[in-house]
Amino acid sequence: MEKTLRVGIVGSGNAAVFHYTAYQRVTGIPVKVVGVTSLDRTQCEEFARKRGIQAFDSLPDMLPAVDVIDNCTPGYAHEPVSVAAFEAGKHVVVEKAFTGYYGPEGDDSFEGNHFPKEKMLAEALASARRMIAAALKSKKKLCYAENWIYAPAVQKEAEILGKSKGQILWALGDQSHSGSPSPAYGIWKLSGGGSVVGKSCHPLTAILYLKQVEGMTLYGKAVRPKTVSSRTHEITRNPRFVDKGFLRTEYKDIEDYCQIHVVFDDGMVADVFASEIVMGGVHNWLEIFANNHRARCNLSPTNAMELYNPREEQLSDVYIVEKIGTKQGWSTPAPDENFMFGYPQEIQDFMEAIFSGREPKSGLLAASDSVGVLYAAYLSAERKGTEIEVPLDPSLGS
Ligand SMILES: NC(=O)c1ccc[n+]([C@@H]2O[C@H](COP(=O)([O-])OP(=O)(O)OC[C@H]3O[C@@H](n4cnc5c(N)ncnc54)[C@H](O)[C@@H]3O)[C@@H](O)[C@H]2O)c1
Repeated sequence: MEKTLRVGIVGSGNAAVFHYTAYQRVTGIPVKVVGVTSLDRTQCEEFARKRGIQAFDSLPDMLPAVDVIDNCTPGYAHEPVSVAAFEAGKHVVVEKAFTGYYGPEGDDSFEGNHFPKEKMLAEALASARRMIAAALKSKKKLCYAENWIYAPAVQKEAEILGKSKGQILWALGDQSHSGSPSPAYGIWKLSGGGSVVGKSCHPLTAILYLKQVEGMTLYGKAVRPKTVSSRTHEITRNPRFVDKGFLRTEYKDIEDYCQIHVVFDDGMVADVFASEIVMGGVHNWLEIFANNHRARCNLSPTNAMELYNPREEQLSDVYIVEKIGTKQGWSTPAPDENFMFGYPQEIQDFMEAIFSGREPKSGLLAASDSVGVLYAAYLSAERKGTEIEVPLDPSLGS
């Protein structure tokens, strides 16, 4: 009989919940989530109790009991948790953003929005390289949990692009909504930034992936990002902002709006937007303008279902779609939101990759290049949009 892959989740918040659900949908690979550990003991025990799994006191306690560590902690803990897991000989799934810069150790006065971005870029890249070096040394898999790569609409576009030998001339994408529910989000020390690392990472990394697919098909090596120009703003902390109570506003030191322009090494371009100021549910979409087709990939909203509800209270215990402000009137309920976002497909690919020894679709290259672009974007924004060379890890990409 084949050996069951034993998974331990670190963190017991939002991401841990949908990761756990995705493991329950894995087919063809024997896999079992055996435990969870988290800094928040009450939340951790509740998470474990509801799912009938073990609540471990700490990561070192959980490591001997598992084969895979699923790192669902806020960004600041991605490197220490992942490196400890690799050093213990475990495979690692790590949430987005891969890693970043979280301020000098023990400096409580750190404010990310005012900290020099050149140093941040250098430190974020160093962190990414330490994580990748730990993965390579351990010979275990690094699975970068960028779910947009696995969204069915993005995978369909990857198929169309590959089979039709298309070339992406311009890609456009956005992730925006009215604010993350995580208490860590909004504090740079914990999250590594705002809309740039927290939201633009999704459409950006899906575009990086599609340019990898295009490059592998046409030239036998990935097309990679070359330069970036970016602007960021703090819209809800603008003294002229009038708060009507519909948006999350209590961010400490992060941006809540960004736009990023990327030029690739083939001279083609992408534009990515992200913000925390959009009502009406999560706005997740990509548009690809290729030399032989045009594709619109809608993750949310989609029109798989259209609903008119005359009275709010009727649907008080019905889930409609992520971060919808009201259930009254017309809406587009997501029949299976996790599937449209690619969460189960992501975990399925990771488990297959670990089980068979192949690389996951979202691995070292997507993780590494995304950190380079995101923190180069911060440096560009500090310089009011000046074009910045993306520092890439030359050992990856072919
Ligand atoms: N792919 C997506 O769509 C998506 C959605 C939400 C969150 N995320 C990512 O998932 C990660 C977690 O976000 P979240 O929304 O679940 O946050 P959260 O604040 O809801 O949960 C974080 C959990 O990690 C625990 N934790 C914090 N530091 C820890 C440490 N050092 N060791 C062990 N446990 C620790 C906390 O106690 C908490 O249980 C972030 O990187 C976030 O960007 C991704």
